[in-house]
Amino acid sequence: MQPLLDVRNLTVEVPAGRGKPPVRIIDNISYTLEDNQTLGIVGESGSGKSMQALAMLGLSQQRGRARAGGEVLFKGQNLLALSDKALRAVRGVQIGMIFQEPMTSLNPVLTIGRQLAEPLVHHMGMSHAKARRRAIDLLSLVGITDPAQRVGQYPFQFSGGMRQRVMIAMALACKPRLLIGDEPTTALDVTVQAQIIELIRELRDEMKMSIIWITHDMGVVAALADRVQVLYAGKIMEMGPVDQVFRQPRSAYTWALLQSIPKRGQRPREPLFQIAGQPVDPARRPPGDPFAPRNPFATERCHREAPPLRAVSPDTPLHRAAAWYDLPRCLADLNAGEEK
Ligand SMILES: Nc1ncnc2c1ncn2[C@@H]1O[C@H](COP(=O)(O)OP(=O)(O)O)[C@@H](O)[C@H]1O
Ligand SMILES: [Mg+2]
Repeated sequence: MQPLLDVRNLTVEVPAGRGKPPVRIIDNISYTLEDNQTLGIVGESGSGKSMQALAMLGLSQQRGRARAGGEVLFKGQNLLALSDKALRAVRGVQIGMIFQEPMTSLNPVLTIGRQLAEPLVHHMGMSHAKARRRAIDLLSLVGITDPAQRVGQYPFQFSGGMRQRVMIAMALACKPRLLIGDEPTTALDVTVQAQIIELIRELRDEMKMSIIWITHDMGVVAALADRVQVLYAGKIMEMGPVDQVFRQPRSAYTWALLQSIPKRGQRPREPLFQIAGQPVDPARRPPGDPFAPRNPFATERCHREAPPLRAVSPDTPLHRAAAWYDLPRCLADLNAGEEK
């Protein structure tokens, strides 16, 4: 059966100025997403998470004339080959988005109700009266109390957490098959963030949609996703079912990110594990594994040759990693060394 989303060799490059080769921001990404599946995309700041999401929606050129190559097949249709007009019928309708970028954030001078109703009238052909009723339903769906009164208010009358709920309502208005969220809860405090994640879980079960949730937080991935993609320097370092990847990571980068989740019983303010060094600058990508310069387990080959993304074992074909070293063995050696 055809997957809902089939990303094939997605690559994004930005022009680097005269005489210089373009800089590769997203490097040959391939994966599929099924109906009702939730994918968490995780990586440090600068790893290419936002660019990947923008490219998938045909929006990469909005950022510094970036150009996307490859294919993004959504229900079999290549989004990268669609006209702007055809793309607008998919984006915001069949694919809902929650971004922090200004282009999709709320308009301060229009009421929440107007902003919710507009796509319903425009894309779904609803009457204004019906769209307004649906706007009230949507506010109530995302847990906003007194929706009939709130629908006439302006964004500034909502708190940060409530505004984020409104953004979710807008993304869900046209009942999308796929919802893409780009760090929508990062600016919120921990309690509100947990409420929003819980809300997304409920809505997913209710609306039967697939989700791509971008975050730098492995804890959010664990709470929400069934698949995880670990991104570094625009490359997939590891990808697979969350339980497999979390139980036995095969990329040192994934392992390092997992160390940053607070352990049970740890006080939340204790200093957590930090990955040493700086994320790689895409304009100065090393020839081999991009994480090698920061990886304590890197071998000579890692510095020389980029490892392919491949299944870690025939028993777990969905769990793929790009690593020349054998991480479970490296970790076992490390533990044995510490016990001596
Ligand atoms: N228009 C652009 N021109 C040049 N470099 C860019 C552009 N947009 C993003 N980048 C670079 O691409 C990398 C990925 O950025 P981004 O997708 O925003 O990362 P993330 O969302 O994971 O923090 C970063 O190194 C960033 O500096
Ligand atoms: Mg980002």
